[in-house]
Amino acid sequence: MSRVEPEMRKTIEEVAREAGKILLDNFGRVKKVEKKGRQFVSNIDLESENRIMERIQKEFPEHNILSEEVGKKEKSSEYTWIIDPLDGTHNYIHCIPIYAVSIALRYRAEVVLGAVFIPPLDEMYQVEGGEGAFLNGKRLKVSNAETENIMATHGGSIPLNPGHRETLMKIAPEVRYIRNLGSAATHLAFAAAGKTDLAVEQTIKPWDIAAGCLLVEEAGGKVTDLSGKGWRPESKDIIAGKKNAHRKILKIVGRERDEM
Ligand code: IPD
Ligand code: CA
Repeated sequence: MSRVEPEMRKTIEEVAREAGKILLDNFGRVKKVEKKGRQFVSNIDLESENRIMERIQKEFPEHNILSEEVGKKEKSSEYTWIIDPLDGTHNYIHCIPIYAVSIALRYRAEVVLGAVFIPPLDEMYQVEGGEGAFLNGKRLKVSNAETENIMATHGGSIPLNPGHRETLMKIAPEVRYIRNLGSAATHLAFAAAGKTDLAVEQTIKPWDIAAGCLLVEEAGGKVTDLSGKGWRPESKDIIAGKKNAHRKILKIVGRERDEM
């Protein structure tokens, strides 16, 4: 029996859209922002998370959940839903319309299903291990750009993590363009779709990347951490994209992992 059941596919898509609607409807109307360590969380992150949690707990009450704001709900299941109800919180709070809902389902050690929904673009990215990656139903393939023309994204925060500057300064001369769009899930979805060639993410959490890494892999790209090891949701940094861009940039930034 497949590890992914039809109800799981249905739920992940529907609930990502439902949460996305909450984000879209409340854009520009954030009522409350609270400090969360060195980051922030808004009332809309929580509203989106409640909707996702309610639906998943109702339909799969025996499954574990790992969600950004509420943390871990352990049920000793082989399945774990990994949830970012709003990836790009800072963009959202500042009314910059680049943000996403990211949901992944892990079976034992492996991420088997994922959805990244980008509400302002009405883009639904879906992926299933071994079955491919899709954008609004159309199969995705990573880009075929030449390595001289790499369009990269770099996700990190130099004000919060000055060490990220080193990575950025190493990548910059080797690529044609480099952007930080403020949402790791969006960076990875765009790399899967071939809109960009490569995404490098630093100081990330499982909910930022679990669905996005599988998207890139299933779109024919390569994903590892910055030391070149296979990715896991717990990886602390990620390099993901078309294979030749991944190879070229990993050689340059690869040994930094232990220095950060
Ligand atoms: C953040 C964004 C950002 C990345 C950070 C994440 P959040 O997620 O994905 O692009 O650089 O590491 O924490 O807090 O907006 O869900
Ligand atoms: Ca978030």
